[in-house]
Amino acid sequence: MKFFKAVAAFGFGLAAAQDDACHTSHKAKADCTADAKCTWCEAAAVPSACYTKEDAQKLPPAVFTCATRSRRSELLPRAEVEKLGVVWRGNATTHQSSHDLLEATEFPSDFSWCNKDGKSYCTMSRNQHIPQYCGSCWAHGAISALGDRIKIARNAQGVDINLAVQHLLNCGGVGSCKGGSVDGPYQWLLELSKKGTGISYETANPYVACSSDSDEGFCKHVDTSCKALNVARTCGSFSQEGGPCTGLGEFPNATISDYGSISGADAMMKEIFHRGPISCGVDANPLLNYESGIIKTKGEGVDHVVSVVGWGTDPKDGMYWIVRNSWGEYWGEMGYFRVAKGALLLEDQCSWAVPSSFTAAEKKNQVHCHEGGDNCKAKDVAQMVV
Ligand SMILES: *[C@@H]1O[C@H](CO)[C@@H](O)[C@H](O)[C@H]1NC(C)=O
Ligand SMILES: *[C@@H]1O[C@H](CO)[C@@H](O)[C@H](O)[C@H]1NC(C)=O
Repeated sequence: MKFFKAVAAFGFGLAAAQDDACHTSHKAKADCTADAKCTWCEAAAVPSACYTKEDAQKLPPAVFTCATRSRRSELLPRAEVEKLGVVWRGNATTHQSSHDLLEATEFPSDFSWCNKDGKSYCTMSRNQHIPQYCGSCWAHGAISALGDRIKIARNAQGVDINLAVQHLLNCGGVGSCKGGSVDGPYQWLLELSKKGTGISYETANPYVACSSDSDEGFCKHVDTSCKALNVARTCGSFSQEGGPCTGLGEFPNATISDYGSISGADAMMKEIFHRGPISCGVDANPLLNYESGIIKTKGEGVDHVVSVVGWGTDPKDGMYWIVRNSWGEYWGEMGYFRVAKGALLLEDQCSWAVPSSFTAAEKKNQVHCHEGGDNCKAKDVAQMVV
């Protein structure tokens, strides 16, 4: 019986392979994996080979193990995004956006905020997937791009300001570890900014990769509800010594004054060149097994968010984008990847924000808190719903 099945599968595998576009074009596993339309199917009884995703689904699962290349999308569908109160592709100003006033000059063939006149304005790389898996790319892309823009505003002087992605996860209401949108984070932050406060810093609210709807890893045991403790906190002593943690009412924070949505390479270049990195949607499937080089795969659907820090020009492949991912520095080119102009749907949906105020030594605008936070303690409910 087993033998019969294997023979039948063998027959089917070969028949399917004969007119399968992926099988004919890719003999090597690496080539197969790099093509978004194809998937590599391993088999013991018959030769492992490359199949189109449609053909791969018809192969008997007892015989073939096909790489599941499609990952869960970290972007919510438009209807769900709008249900969260986010304006799809929204702009802070409806008539004339500040983006439209930027000059469309001749741009250099190579331009990166990570290496501009020998200086780097790029803030730290992050990893959204530790201590456990969390689909918060949308928060990471937006927060990293904004962090870079604050660094630009500071002319790369002083200690980098790293903003708290976890504050956005706890209080943003525009997404979670189960996904979000390109548009949501800055819309939330501008509303918060109008109320006179901003997003807290990493040192008052470190990333834990949890949201209220995540049961992954230790998340069941973590309270991520939006309250003072989960905006900015300090834990001054052991519980036995009189109380563990204090939610802060005064804490370093950053606000924005404007945001907007753009698409297309020209708008992206203009925005990046004049004002700094932006966050953009991308098709992540071809990125899963990326190691280095310029990706040219066209892309099938936007399911991930990254921050674009510049571009370059390759003698052979032409113009490409320089992009920071949020999968750690061990991934790709030290956490970054390069993608050819027009590939991976990177140019479809991008967002930008303009920093306004931020707490920094040179601004002398810090409220100086004690180790236990007693002199900065959050007092009222109004402060808790930031
Ligand atoms: C926001 O502005 C961009 C161009 O600057 C435009 O393409 C987009 O449609 C605008 N969004 C909305 C919701 O009007
Ligand atoms: C936010 O930072 C500003 C300084 O940039 C400070 O004046 C303000 O008190 C801070 N807000 C909170 C809630 O701590």
